[in-house]
Amino acid sequence: MPKLSVIGAGTMGTGIAQVAASEGWDVVVNDSNSAVIEESSKSLVKVMNRLVEKGKIDQQTADSILGRIDFTEDQQHFENSDLVIEAIVENLEVKQKVFSAIEKIVRPDTIIASNTSSLSLASIGASLDNPSRFVGIHFFNPAPLMPLVEIIPAVQTVPRTIEQAKGWIDSWKKITVLAKDTPGFIVNRVARPFYGEALRIYEEGIADFATIDWSMKELGGFRMGPFELMDFIGNDVNYTVTETVFESFFYDPRYKPSFTQKRMSEAGLLGRKTGKGYYDYSEDAFKPTAKMDEKLGKQILDRVVVMLINEAADALFLNIASKEDIDLAMTKGVNYPKGLLKWADELGINWCVEQLDKLYDEYHEDRYRCSPLLRRMEKEKKNFYS
Ligand code: NAI
Repeated sequence: MPKLSVIGAGTMGTGIAQVAASEGWDVVVNDSNSAVIEESSKSLVKVMNRLVEKGKIDQQTADSILGRIDFTEDQQHFENSDLVIEAIVENLEVKQKVFSAIEKIVRPDTIIASNTSSLSLASIGASLDNPSRFVGIHFFNPAPLMPLVEIIPAVQTVPRTIEQAKGWIDSWKKITVLAKDTPGFIVNRVARPFYGEALRIYEEGIADFATIDWSMKELGGFRMGPFELMDFIGNDVNYTVTETVFESFFYDPRYKPSFTQKRMSEAGLLGRKTGKGYYDYSEDAFKPTAKMDEKLGKQILDRVVVMLINEAADALFLNIASKEDIDLAMTKGVNYPKGLLKWADELGINWCVEQLDKLYDEYHEDRYRCSPLLRRMEKEKKNFYS
C-alpha cells in the first residue's frame, strides 16, 4: 500500500489521516507541537471506538486502521512517502519553509500537496526545487464525512501529478473536481452570494434573519439558511474567507464583505461556538419566528439563487472548472439542493438575465453585473445541459 505523510495534526490533518488509513494506506501524522500530536492520536482512538460501538466497523478493523498511523514529531519519518499533504497554519512563509524542508527528505517522485483554502498554490509551489510535482488537494471539514475534494494544479504542476493525485483521492472514495488556482477555487468562490446577498437583503431591511433562513430552506430546499450556516461556521471564519476572497480578486465589488458580519465578528458574536451570533443559542433564549409570507420568501430566494447562478456561470465563463464539476462541487461540498447551472436551465436563462438586469438597473452596482456567458447564452437560446 502507498504511504501518506500529513503535516499538521489539527482538525484537517487528523481527518485526512483517518480517511487514508481507513483505505489501507500507511500514514505518518506530524505536527511541530507534541501536545497536538497527542490530541490527534487520542481523537482518532475516540472516533474508532465510536465507529465500533455503532457497528460501522469491527474492533479488528479499528485496530488495524490505528496501527497504520505513525504519530511523530520527527519529519524524517516522511522518507519513502508516495504523497505528502500539508495542513498546517494558513501562513505562506511558514508553509514555504516547511515545503523546502520536506523536499529534502522525500523521494524525487513523491507528490507534494497543500490543503490550503485561500493561498495561491503557485506561491506555495515556488518554494520547491521541483514544483512540477506539487498540487492543491483541498478537503472540506470534516474530511472523513464530506465527500468533495478539489484538486487544484498550480501553473507549475505537470499533468502526471494531477492524474496521480486525482487517482489516489478517487481511490479513497472521494468525489474529486478539478479547479483553477484562483481565489476560493470552486466552492468558496461560488458560495459567496449565499452569505453576501442574504446579508445585503437583511441590511436593506427587506427581511430579518429568521425570514431569510425560512425562505432559503422551506422554499429553496437548502439544508440550512445563510444565517444559521454563518453561525455554524463562525462569523469570524466566514468573514475572513469573504475578506480574503475580496482582496484576492483585487477588490472586485462583487465580493465586498458586509459590515453586519464584520461587526458581529468584532463583537465576539461568532455563532454557535460563543453561544450567540445571529441567533441566541442559550436554553431559555427567545426564538425569533419567520414571517412566512410566500411572496416575500420567493423574492428573497430568487434574489439569492440568481446571484449564486451568476457566480457559477461566471466561474464557467472564466474556465475555473467544467460545468459538471461546478455543479458537483456545490452539491457535494456544501449540500446545495441542486447544481446551480442545472437550476439555471430549469429557471430559464432569460429569466436569470432578466432578474440580474433588474437588480443592476435598480442599484447600479457592479456586484449585480450579469455574467457575459449568461447573456451570450440567452441570445443564442442555449441551456447549460441541453
Ligand atoms: P489547525 O489549526 O486545526 O491545525 C494546524 C496545525 O498545524 C496545528 O496543530 C499546528 O500546531 C500545526 N503546525 C503549524 N506549523 C507547523 C509546522 N511548521 N510543522 C508542523 N505542524 C505545524 O488548522 P486546520 O483547520 O486543520 O487547517 C489547516 C489547513 O487546512 C489550513 O491551510 C487551512 O486553510 C486548510 N483548511 C481548513 C479547513 C477548515 O475548515 N478548518 C477546510 C479546508 C482547508
